[in-house]
Amino acid sequence: NAPGLALPVTDAELADRLRSRMGEVEDALVAHVQGSAAYVTEAASHLMEAGGKRFRPLLVLLAAEAGPHPAAPEVRTAACVVELTHLASLYHDDVMDEALLRRGADSANARWDNHVAILTGDFLFARSSELTADLGPEAVRIQARTFARLVEGQILETVPPAPGADPVEHHLDVVAGKTGSLIATSARYGAMFGGATPEVVAALTAYGDIVGTAFQLSDDILDIASESDTSGKTPGTDLKEGVPTLPVLLVQRSQDPADARLQQLLDPAVTDLAADDALHAEALGLLRAHPAMTEARDYVVARAGEAKALLTALPEGPVRAALEAFADVVATRSA
Ligand code: FPP
Ligand code: MG
Ligand code: MG
Repeated sequence: NAPGLALPVTDAELADRLRSRMGEVEDALVAHVQGSAAYVTEAASHLMEAGGKRFRPLLVLLAAEAGPHPAAPEVRTAACVVELTHLASLYHDDVMDEALLRRGADSANARWDNHVAILTGDFLFARSSELTADLGPEAVRIQARTFARLVEGQILETVPPAPGADPVEHHLDVVAGKTGSLIATSARYGAMFGGATPEVVAALTAYGDIVGTAFQLSDDILDIASESDTSGKTPGTDLKEGVPTLPVLLVQRSQDPADARLQQLLDPAVTDLAADDALHAEALGLLRAHPAMTEARDYVVARAGEAKALLTALPEGPVRAALEAFADVVATRSA
């Protein structure tokens, strides 16, 4: 489970440049998770050392290539800011989701306890905030607004849709908030600090929002579909914990009587999947074979297409091609 997403970059020069800059970002991240006590450092470096795709910093570096200064030091700092914010949110997320496995390792709450996990998340967010200050007030404002969207998305996930609201729309708002926001900011920071034009910054921000939403939806589909723990997480966790996902919401709104059994299993008022492994396995099996999985995958591919259409704001060339490939990888990822 080594760090790094396989680079979807065919241009050899661009790939080399990105790989070498990602190496610098990785070294900087190791330094930023050091605490003043060994115990703090151990907890704060735990999930970073466990692996991760480094999707957000990679997007910062890639988006920076759309401007004249992709090697500006602010680009590298921004890459660290978004990864540290993401890491912080994972510590908190695993507490909320009661997840025991992350990046193929024990979650911090499993390895230590909820208190350590929450405070370590706070520590990492503090580190991220300190670094953002080096990027100036505009970056701090963006970071603050991103963080508010992230937290609002996470809060919205814990409440049912407003009466009369479409549960699928509610869910898409949750996902755009909890994941789209930080990925949009990754693309925005990269484009901004790489010196791209305001038009390109806006296009890449919108691209990041959609790609980020697609990324989370793919992640949720994988949580259902993967037979093994290739994701470094425990498959079927969302289902067990009753965390709504797109395929589940699509099944729940089906009128087909053939879906009655699965709907019953997916209704937390009727079935407690967390308490019964056999029912959880039955629900997972029925869901995997259900056309809602294809429908959800098709939706993600369509969103990736929308994201790619925004890239016409960039000149044709290896950077645009890499961003297009990036959107495709997200839509069709298998790990
Ligand atoms: C993963 O979603 C969680 C997020 C994308 C955001 C979580 C945000 C918070 C907990 C608030 C942020 C707090 C701080 C201090 C930064 P998931 O649970 O659907 O995905 P998973 O399968 O990876 O667990
Ligand atoms: Mg989670
Ligand atoms: Mg969660």
